[in-house]
Amino acid sequence: MYKKILLTGISGQVGHALQQAFSERHTLFGELVCLDRNQLDLSDQQAIRDVVQAIKPDLIINPAAYTAVDKAETEPGLAYAINAVAPGVLAEEGAKLGARLIHFSTDYVYAGNKVGLYVEDDATAPLSVYGKSKLAGEEAIRSVGLPHLIFRTSWVYGAYGKNFLNTILRLAKERDQLSIVGDQAGAPTSSHSIADTIVQVLGQWHGDVSGVYHLVNAGFTTWHGFATAIVEEYSHLRSVKGWQPLKVQVENIQAITTAEYPTPAVRPANSCLDCHRLHRDFSVTIPNWRDALIAELKAMPSN
Ligand SMILES: NC(=O)c1ccc[n+]([C@@H]2O[C@H](COP(=O)([O-])OP(=O)(O)OC[C@H]3O[C@@H](n4cnc5c(N)ncnc54)[C@H](OP(=O)(O)O)[C@@H]3O)[C@@H](O)[C@H]2O)c1
Repeated sequence: MYKKILLTGISGQVGHALQQAFSERHTLFGELVCLDRNQLDLSDQQAIRDVVQAIKPDLIINPAAYTAVDKAETEPGLAYAINAVAPGVLAEEGAKLGARLIHFSTDYVYAGNKVGLYVEDDATAPLSVYGKSKLAGEEAIRSVGLPHLIFRTSWVYGAYGKNFLNTILRLAKERDQLSIVGDQAGAPTSSHSIADTIVQVLGQWHGDVSGVYHLVNAGFTTWHGFATAIVEEYSHLRSVKGWQPLKVQVENIQAITTAEYPTPAVRPANSCLDCHRLHRDFSVTIPNWRDALIAELKAMPSN
């Protein structure tokens, strides 16, 4: 039981899902202090120090991040301030209070050229400024040495927020053909699966273990496979939910290569993360990515 939890990034996908999950389970904590960017700007080190010392949490959860992967290539200073420096400052201030820290990182810390699933001890070699800044954030937390859990997740989406699910649904209503990258593999991971897992972990974590854990929905696909599943599952639920029809048919979603869809930041081809360490150290249930997608769609409002 935590006396006071400080939660950042509540306007983001994971922060929003965590706030929702916590509001349904009051027994885990005495008080939840939720901060958005206006209340705590993570690019301001002094603000972080002042806010943490004023609130005096015994657990800090930091899903806030600079997540504009392509923009980070031309804004490395800001990406590093938020993703690399801020987590270290949160850790330092937390350590002064004897607090613990839960932080989030990414599949983009890997180069993506491994054959098979990545495990947490595999070599990191980020291909992008974003990936490098997130890895530097992990290292900053480790060097402080307070009790911490860092969850590397991937392909985060949900009914709420700017993400692949909402982009595909928008495009599928506007267009009758879609071209989606089919040679990058990974696990789409719903923000609610992440939040539910964190709640499960919190009930079991006594600060005795620290380190990096993979946390993704079970199973793997490609972006093309994910887009196809979104269109299929939406179409199954459409009449029950009263949603508008899609223009695109599944057979008109074409798989293209990464080379055919160039982006400023290079993405790993293989983002498949092995979650055995998480299951070894904590008793958690994490749904398959397709079941999580169906749950996320079912939770979307009818129209
Ligand atoms: N999205 C993915 O596909 C993905 C994949 C792998 C790992 N992750 C990691 O998972 C975690 C959660 O990601 P997410 O998808 O929830 O991200 P998100 O939806 O993009 O939300 C990011 C949050 O960070 C906040 N933020 C950005 N700059 C800030 C600043 N200077 N001060 C304070 N808050 C700031 C944003 O606030 P505003 O709304 O005000 O901008 C927002 O609340 C992050 O650590 C991310 O790196 C994400």
